[in-house]
Amino acid sequence: MTIKILAFAGSARTDSFNKKLVKVAADGAKTAGAEVTYIDFKDLPMPLYDEDLETAEGLPSTVIQFKTLLKEHQGFLIASPEYNSSISPLLKNAIDWASRPAPGEASLACFRDKVAVLMATSPGGLGGLRGLIHVRSILQNIGVLVLPDQKAIPNAYQAFDEAGNLKDEKQRTDIQTLGSKLAAIATQLAT
Ligand code: FNR
Repeated sequence: MTIKILAFAGSARTDSFNKKLVKVAADGAKTAGAEVTYIDFKDLPMPLYDEDLETAEGLPSTVIQFKTLLKEHQGFLIASPEYNSSISPLLKNAIDWASRPAPGEASLACFRDKVAVLMATSPGGLGGLRGLIHVRSILQNIGVLVLPDQKAIPNAYQAFDEAGNLKDEKQRTDIQTLGSKLAAIATQLAT
């Protein structure tokens, strides 16, 4: 069975460092034999959560698309920007929407028994590490197994080359290893 991993960043910004970072991790997952789907929330705009948008007919179409993607994949690679020491509103909004059941759907069907790895990068000296505490807590509380391994890459403006790769070999290997480890553990859990 080929493990399917969904990779995304909690930033819509075109030149997002976190989008670059999660793609490095995705390379590691692919090397470990996983099939990786990368999604960009810029292409999947979800409204700001509003319970009035939950109707008898269901959830907004982009929310349904995101929920379907989450269900189709066994593992999640998530790069989360740090906003004021916490999760970005874009990522929290996406998680909040996906946590809402469609009519007739089991509670937290997108998240239960899934496994995730977290990473962050920022121009600051801590690389977004503080925000990952909150991302981890949110995901664990909705049933995701979040691996203890995580990395935060500081000084993002200096860390990436023009092609979006991490310049430092150890950082690159560390992030790729997050991807390969997620693939390995998701494979073990699926068998
Ligand atoms: C930030 N940024 C930031 N960085 C950080 O290391 N710690 C922080 O607490 C914050 N807080 C913060 C709040 C808000 C509202 C913004 C807009 C930004 C800077 C942030 O890390 C930087 O903009 C990154 O480039 C965002 O990630 P992407 O979009 O490059 O992936």
